[in-house]
Amino acid sequence: WAGGKERGGGDKGRPWSFRRALRPWQQAPSGGALLLRHVADFQLSIASIIENSSGDGLAQDLHLQAQQLAERLKCDSVVSAISAGPGTVNFTINRELLAKTVLQQVWKDGSEYGVKSELFSTVPRQKAVIEFSSPNIAKKFHIGHLRSTMVGNFIANLKVALGHEVVRINYLGDWGMQFGLLGVGFQSFGNKEKLKSSPLQHLFEVYVQINQAAEDENIKKLAKDFFRKLEEHDEQTLSIWKQFRDLSIEEYIRIYKRLGVHFDEYSGESFYQEKAQEVLKMLEDKGLLQKTIKGTGIVDLSEKKDLSTFSTVMRSDGTSLYITRDLAAAIDRMNKHSWDTMIYVTDKSQSNHFQHLFQILKLMGYDWAERCQHVSFGLVQGMKTRRGEVIFLEDVLNEVRSRMLQNMTSTKTTKEIQDPVETAEKVGLAALIIQDFRGLLSSDYQFSWDRALQSRGDTGVFLQYTYARLHSLEQMHGNAELTDVNVSCLQEPDAISVLQHLLRYDEVLYRSSQDLQPKHIVSYLLTLSHLAAVAHKTLPVKGSAPAVAQARLCLFHAARSVLANGMKLLGITPVTQM
Ligand code: ARG
Repeated sequence: WAGGKERGGGDKGRPWSFRRALRPWQQAPSGGALLLRHVADFQLSIASIIENSSGDGLAQDLHLQAQQLAERLKCDSVVSAISAGPGTVNFTINRELLAKTVLQQVWKDGSEYGVKSELFSTVPRQKAVIEFSSPNIAKKFHIGHLRSTMVGNFIANLKVALGHEVVRINYLGDWGMQFGLLGVGFQSFGNKEKLKSSPLQHLFEVYVQINQAAEDENIKKLAKDFFRKLEEHDEQTLSIWKQFRDLSIEEYIRIYKRLGVHFDEYSGESFYQEKAQEVLKMLEDKGLLQKTIKGTGIVDLSEKKDLSTFSTVMRSDGTSLYITRDLAAAIDRMNKHSWDTMIYVTDKSQSNHFQHLFQILKLMGYDWAERCQHVSFGLVQGMKTRRGEVIFLEDVLNEVRSRMLQNMTSTKTTKEIQDPVETAEKVGLAALIIQDFRGLLSSDYQFSWDRALQSRGDTGVFLQYTYARLHSLEQMHGNAELTDVNVSCLQEPDAISVLQHLLRYDEVLYRSSQDLQPKHIVSYLLTLSHLAAVAHKTLPVKGSAPAVAQARLCLFHAARSVLANGMKLLGITPVTQM
């Protein structure tokens, strides 16, 4: 649509096809407000012509049919030309109207452009609990935790932008035998100074050392005793545990801040020790808890009640398991937040766990179990830092920052930048996020620093670069003013391509909001950047007549503004220089 064979837009050069275009419009409301709705009306009238004309002379031959259709359709203030191709009807949209509509909308809605679209007007506002990141204290912060952090943050950002209420929860692995070992280990290998200055690293080191020593039965016994005391809430033992936990959280907060991520709640498995016992009692009362010969407690999840699938919820000594604590946490969150949806973000190795969790909740009679969702993602291979395998989130951030800084220095662009280190960090993060979000979340991928950090092609560096260039264009020529802009100056195909693409932003947001996949937004922003880069080259501001320059500035401002909106949703902070 809109200019038929022109390059650009979502359909990359394919001519508008009636049949192809009608399909999505029949299923979902269309975006791009005025113009698209108008084209949709056109399509409906075409559809009715076709329907009513099987007997009255419309040819069977598609080409001929298209031609006859095109002849019957009339142009109006929105559609300025109609022509026929083989099996297609091409519409040319009134370009001035297109430019005016898009620019006005971007100006009016600003950071809410797209989310204010009528596409979302019938979507009820909800409260969502989103649980993500959830690392285990004293253990590795593996790449899965980083992915969970980025994906969860994206989902939360998107929901907030669309007007939903969001509670961000970090469910820490902060309980279990590891704390028994850690408690004992700290007595031999611990260092109070190091614990204060870098708790995550120090606790991990202690944990590794004590694990090696734990071959010794004596140490095993001491660790068990320590953990038992913890479970019995012995005050002194608890205060040691609490110190480990508090200092770790402080450091997590500091590092998440570098990522631009925050949480409303730091919860964790430790919160649900006792509540898990209540859950076991409830399961028993409801007749759902069965005991095996070994004394472990299980819940039958099979359809035929033949135990072909079951979930273990209690150890033979009566203590709870990971899933029991999750049951308690889910119920507690419902009581506390009365959420409409709850989303858990982890890698796909935990899919079974969450399936079982939701099934048990349903068996317990909680119909809200249907509103729990596990957003799972694939595995990432090969992310190594100079320090080796990824153990600490901070290492990843430092690595991407220093690599990016090196790239920037070697291209000699850092000279003019005020804060090259911070810029390198933001650009590097954009690179990580785009590499991670480009495909379907469920797919595994091989991580590559070089691929992620390329400045050209479909990378986060390219997005940042485009943003920075558009920003400096405005710095150079003054802010774009929409009043009095002459949109007839924006008739070149490269300008139209950008405008067409801007018009579709709401559709892309809609898609991501439906399947929670960031890739729709990513590919939209990459295309926008490519289109803007072309337009930047072919439609100079400098040296153009004032009216043309002003119109172009407005076009670039609109592109930059939508680019920034989309980047922020993904968790990227746009940089103004690089
Ligand atoms: N701490 C867990 C891990 O690192 C992830 C927690 C996921 N969330 C949950 N509610 N079970 O594997």
